[in-house]
Amino acid sequence: MILMEYITVSIRYNLPIFLLVFALLYPAMAQAEYGDVLMNNYSDDAGMRPVVFPHWFHRIRFRCKVCHADLGFKFEAGGNEINMLKIIDGEYCGACHNGEVAWSVESCDICHSGKPGTPTQVHHSTTSKLFTRTNNKQKGGK
Ligand code: HEC
Ligand code: HEC
Ligand code: HEC
Repeated sequence: MILMEYITVSIRYNLPIFLLVFALLYPAMAQAEYGDVLMNNYSDDAGMRPVVFPHWFHRIRFRCKVCHADLGFKFEAGGNEINMLKIIDGEYCGACHNGEVAWSVESCDICHSGKPGTPTQVHHSTTSKLFTRTNNKQKGGK
């Protein structure tokens, strides 16, 4: 009801409806902090699609410490020299994607699911793109 009234009032007085839209989107945008990490240090060059790591999906299942302390993942998109030898050896993603904790490395496409040619980056979701673009504009395109 409040929502309908807001829209009616907005239209009558020509108030910006985008404020309402922003308020509704805000929680999703805030979560973009923990958005997907797209990894492409080596994939493109090796003829594989880049890797999409769904950070949020993992964060709700494991403590930060498991990955960022015990497994040694540095807090930086693309900041770890991850390759398939290490993964098959049980390092990085391979500590879990070994057919025991989670499905094994044979399922190439579940990890290598990024759009070819996309550079390494964080927040590869629709809402986060929106968020990043808004930020960029505020910072004068930098
Ligand atoms: C299942 C493993 C895993 C867990 C659990 C995890 N992370 Fe990460 N995190 C990663 C990986 C993988 C990357 C990307 C590293 C890369 O690209 O080389 C990353 C990147 C990051 C980054 C840098 C990129 C960005 O989004 O800004 C931050 C900050 C971060 N993690 C914080 C956290 C925090 C805080 C928690 C716990 C609440 C957490 N992570 C839990 C695996 C994990
Ligand atoms: C601490 C353990 C752990 C680590 C480390 C880990 N994963 Fe996972 N991952 C999981 C678990 C558990 C699942 C859920 C498996 C299932 O649903 O059967 C999962 C699921 C996934 C999924 C599917 C998500 C979905 O929406 O179903 C992807 C993609 C993925 N992992 C990629 C990665 C990549 C890439 C890395 C390394 C950068 C990584 N994971 C490291 C435990 C881990
Ligand atoms: C659990 C997630 C995961 C799975 C499953 C996976 N990879 Fe990867 N792979 C990665 C990550 C992470 C990287 C590093 C990405 C980057 O920075 O380019 C990588 C990099 C690569 C690379 C480039 C580096 C290198 O080691 O030569 C190739 C080639 C590759 N993967 C092939 C494969 C093939 C083929 C399969 C299936 C048999 C597969 N991957 C399955 C996560 C995975």
